[in-house]
Amino acid sequence: MSIEIRGLRKSFGEKEILRGFDLQAGENEIAAIVGPSGVGKSVLLKHVVGLLRPDAGSVVVDGTTVGESHGSALADLRRRIGYVFQFAALFDSMTVAENVGMGLRRAAGWTPDRIRARAEACLAMVGLEGMGSRRPADLSGGQRKRAGLARAIAFSPKYLLYDEPTTGLDPVTTTSIDRLMLRMRDELGVATLVVTHDMTSAFRVADRITLLHEGRAWFTGVPAEVRSSGDPVVRGFVEGDPGLYYGTGAGEPTAGRPR
Ligand SMILES: Nc1ncnc2c1ncn2[C@@H]1O[C@H](COP(=O)(O)OP(=O)(O)OP(=O)(O)O)[C@@H](O)[C@H]1O
Ligand SMILES: [Mg+2]
Repeated sequence: MSIEIRGLRKSFGEKEILRGFDLQAGENEIAAIVGPSGVGKSVLLKHVVGLLRPDAGSVVVDGTTVGESHGSALADLRRRIGYVFQFAALFDSMTVAENVGMGLRRAAGWTPDRIRARAEACLAMVGLEGMGSRRPADLSGGQRKRAGLARAIAFSPKYLLYDEPTTGLDPVTTTSIDRLMLRMRDELGVATLVVTHDMTSAFRVADRITLLHEGRAWFTGVPAEVRSSGDPVVRGFVEGDPGLYYGTGAGEPTAGRPR
């Protein structure tokens, strides 16, 4: 059970976003991908669920090459992957519980009663018990993120992908979302990818952190290795120093500790 990204390349027109990106994540593991806005983090995640297809390289999830799967094989794979979207992507025309259960509606064996019960159970798991009948518009930002997570776990996924789960949240709410990600790893045993530019959160939840820079995995290491890295690009990003970060575009990626 793993996510393996190998030599992933993707361009939009003339613009090369991913230029040979490599990453692996296994069971019970959280791999964080960090980097500034626009660097290609969401593009990367979309390849993992087959919303985008690579120009070259591959993403293999659960032994299946995502870019080569279609139809029911791709649908099967997607059910094993919970995706928490960057902007929650909840439908305001539905209740929170309906949002959480929406992916189950087309699946065999899911009666309306069973879906309702599952939605309530998932909401309870993320600390939103009893809020199923509300509308998404009546939730706070942190609650919306939780509701997005409840929807992502409805199918009992083996993999969880989070796109900016803590962006725009206050420090206390960020901590509670971080704890929730750790709980999901520990209780569900999922392999997790989280893309974020929130380094506080990355340091707290990640087993390994990869800095996405110039389309590649510029540096991969455990949090302590990232903190102590002398690489100017890594330090520039972690310390929020644009001079350091942008001052040194040239050169080869440092090795870090790829596992
Ligand atoms: N479908 C698309 N067509 C053309 N360009 C795209 C498409 N999707 C993404 N891009 C471009 O790819 C680049 C990377 O976008 P992406 O959304 O992955 O950034 P990001 O790292 O997630 O940023 P943020 O932290 O702001 O969410 C951007 O320049 C974006 O405009
Ligand atoms: Mg993004």
